[in-house]
Amino acid sequence: MAPQATDRCGNLAIGLHWLTLAVLIAVYACINLTDLYPKGGEPRDALKTWHFMLGLTILALSALPANRFRSSACSFLHCCPRAKSSPGS
Ligand code: HEM
Repeated sequence: MAPQATDRCGNLAIGLHWLTLAVLIAVYACINLTDLYPKGGEPRDALKTWHFMLGLTILALSALPANRFRSSACSFLHCCPRAKSSPGS
């Protein structure tokens, strides 16, 4: 049977992985939504600020050891036990 995601990575790593993707989508959405508002307007500036802040959040999330699937930092945290190999493989 194929190893389940939870066999390979802890819930923390999986949660951070999806959180990173959600924030990445928000970063991209914010900068594109600026086109809907006139230059110099308050909503446009607010969206740019959100873009910057969420972009920096992506950087911080990416640096977290638990967000690095199967890396040495991950094994340090014991969040990615090796998938059990089937007999004969
Ligand atoms: C995952 C992170 C990020 C992604 C995917 C991303 C993506 C983008 C995209 C697609 C644009 C539009 C480019 C265009 O004009 O067609 C943009 C614009 C821009 N981004 Fe980011 N960005 C990220 C993080 C950041 C961060 C952390 C900063 C600053 C602290 C930043 C500053 C800017 C600035 C100044 C612009 C130009 C805005 C304008 O038109 O005035 N970005 N970014």
